Amino acid sequence: MGQARGSDPRPIAVFDSGVGGLTVLSEIRRRLPDEATLYLGDNARAPYGPRLAAEVREFTAEAVGWLESQDVKMLVLACNTATAQALPLIRDAASVPVMGVVRPGAVAAAAATRSGHVVVVATAGTVASGAYAAAIAEADPALTVTQQACPDLVPLVEAGVISGPRPREAIAAYLAPVLAADPAVDTLLLGCTHYPLLRAEFEAVAGPTVAVVDSAFTTALALEDLLDAIGNRAPTGSTANHRLATTGPAEAFRRVAEGVFGVPPGPVEEVAIRLRG
Ligand code: DGL
Repeated sequence: MGQARGSDPRPIAVFDSGVGGLTVLSEIRRRLPDEATLYLGDNARAPYGPRLAAEVREFTAEAVGWLESQDVKMLVLACNTATAQALPLIRDAASVPVMGVVRPGAVAAAAATRSGHVVVVATAGTVASGAYAAAIAEADPALTVTQQACPDLVPLVEAGVISGPRPREAIAAYLAPVLAADPAVDTLLLGCTHYPLLRAEFEAVAGPTVAVVDSAFTTALALEDLLDAIGNRAPTGSTANHRLATTGPAEAFRRVAEGVFGVPPGPVEEVAIRLRG
C-alpha cells in the first residue's frame, strides 16, 4: 500500500464481547505503534456466541454508541460473533468507518490453504450466520469449507483454562470427526477471538499437516491499508495513548489483559453502556 499519512490522532476503537479481542488489539498495537486505541469489552453480557442474533445486534449497537461518544476515528469489531451478525447494521449506523474480523480471517485462510480444504471453528452464532463460509467463498469460490461450532471453549478460556487435558479433549471431540471426514483439510481457521489463546492445543490436535490461522494479523494489515487509503493515520512519532474499558469487573479484565500483553496493561475503566434497562 501507499505511504499516505494523515494527521488524525484520535483513537481507533476496538470492540469485543469480552477479553478475547485483546488478541486483535495486541496485533493492532504492534503493527500501528503511532495509533491511539480505545478497547471496550462487554464482559457484563459475554458470551455473545450463544445469544440470539437480534440480541447481539442490540448489544453491539449500544457498545458502538458508547465508543462513538468517546470521539474515535475508526471502529474495529474484533468480535467474530458481532461481525458475523451485526456488521452491515453497524456500518449503516456508524459515523466512522467500521471494519470486522471475518473478511480478514477468510483472506488468511484462503492464502494459507494449498489443498483448498478449510475448516472454520467458531461460536454457535458465527457458524449459524454462515458469514465465514460466505467470506471464504468470496475470497476463493473453489475452496471447500466445513464449519464447526465449539460452544465449550469460550467458557474454558474465560475460566483461564487455556492448556492441558480439558481444552485438548474438548477440541479433539469437536475436530476429530471433522478432520476424519475430510482428510484433505490442511487449514484450520480460528474464527473466534478466544481461540488464539488455545492455539497450542488446536495445533496439537490438528497435527503438523494442518496450518492454524486466525484473523488478528490480517485484521491489523487491513486496518493499516484502510487508514492509508483514507489518509487517516496518526502523525508519525505520536505518543499513542491506550485506554481499556469493560462493562464488567476491572480487576478480572486486568488479569487477562496482563496475560495477553505479557506486561501490566495499565488502568482499566469500568463503564456503563446500556441504553435501556
Ligand atoms: N468474541 C466472541 C467471538 O469472537 C467469542 C466470545 C463470545 O461468545 O462472546 O465470536
